[in-house]
Amino acid sequence: MEIKLLEQAKKVLEKNWQDGFTIPCEGLYPFQWNWDSGFIALGWAHIDMEKAKSELRYLLSGQWSNGFLPHIIFHNESETYFPGPEVHAADLSPYSSEIKTSGITQPPVLGFVLEELFITSGNTELDFISELYDKVLLCHDYFYKYRDPEDEGLVYICHNWEAGTDNTPVWDDIWKNLDSPEYQLERRDTEHVDASTRPSNREYQHYIHLIELFKEWKYNDALIAEKCPFLIQDPLFNAMLIRSNESMIRLGTLLKKEDAVRQLKNWNEKAKKNYQTKLYDPELKTYIYFDLRADKPMKYVSSSSFSPLFAGIPSKEVATEMANRYFREGSFSGKNNFFLLCASFDPESEHFDPKRYWRGPVWINLNWILYRGFKRYGMEDLADQIKSDTLFLLKKHGFYEYFDPRRDIHQQSDAGYGGNNFSWSAALYIDLLKNKH
Ligand code: GLC
Repeated sequence: MEIKLLEQAKKVLEKNWQDGFTIPCEGLYPFQWNWDSGFIALGWAHIDMEKAKSELRYLLSGQWSNGFLPHIIFHNESETYFPGPEVHAADLSPYSSEIKTSGITQPPVLGFVLEELFITSGNTELDFISELYDKVLLCHDYFYKYRDPEDEGLVYICHNWEAGTDNTPVWDDIWKNLDSPEYQLERRDTEHVDASTRPSNREYQHYIHLIELFKEWKYNDALIAEKCPFLIQDPLFNAMLIRSNESMIRLGTLLKKEDAVRQLKNWNEKAKKNYQTKLYDPELKTYIYFDLRADKPMKYVSSSSFSPLFAGIPSKEVATEMANRYFREGSFSGKNNFFLLCASFDPESEHFDPKRYWRGPVWINLNWILYRGFKRYGMEDLADQIKSDTLFLLKKHGFYEYFDPRRDIHQQSDAGYGGNNFSWSAALYIDLLKNKH
């Protein structure tokens, strides 16, 4: 069974491979996506290191001259996705790349992805690491220079698509106060998958409205920081950056890049300290979001709340309390382990929806992050559980984009949602099976 599924996972990656990079999902996501490519490269590394390397080179070929790394790189043309390059109009920015891209970014995973590749190669790929190192460093430099207005070591996101968790209920409060025009949108996503598992039309109007504002401001970071109605310090995004910094420190040490290592250590020291003081909520006993525009915390618990485990941010005590509260006795496991790990939003919340995109379903990349996080803290019980729940879902339904977290519903065959043959679900399955560290 395992061998057969492993073969299928490879086939998914091969099918989605486009002569240099991998699309997340045919039809639904037909271009190169930023953090997808990071996770996809982790899978390729086990079966074809040259493809893993190419994936990252292609991604970084879309980097802007100020270090910014866009969330979509339009190497190819496709009519099956909205919004395409003409809606993003990234060339309004004086820094944009030759290749067409979007003008928003995604969680910075490349630092730790580079280190994973290096380890998977048996420490042989140092030349490749050296080739990409400065580009990834420049991307981190961009974040601290332009997206940390209060100089806290915590960076903001200015669009829900930057979070990676596009449609989490956390953003509902922002949309409520936003008077976006009622654009007529040519949505394509709902032609590919069931509309009941995707964001609503009104939500899409807000997503496009933000992009229209960025275009009006020519993607100028200072104007965005000053005026954007969506300005959030997101726990997942910042945990990814801190974890990537950590890997970049180790790789930089190997490459003898002393200045870079010093810089990265400074960033991380400040970032970890302020992450703990600003994003930790002692009442909720977990990590939450901060709305910089409204200057107030957003008290919601999602799977992103636990991502700092992967970055080593909580103390052992804080981590144990969080794990007990949300997993060993708590809402994300449900009564009698009713829920598979890990729902993307708090199952006790009125906003929880087990079927709809980031409002409840399990996502494989978050599970991979949390699996590594539990391992880091020696919580083998939870690491084992999240791994076996992940493997169960993939074996039962195949490589879907997201899955229903309710355990009892999986007797039915349709509890895998969104796109099928989804690349990071396949790639991370390969990594979960093959990775020994
Ligand atoms: C969805 C996800 C996002 C991902 C993209 C491509 O928009 O929310 O995180 O990068 O699909 O797979």
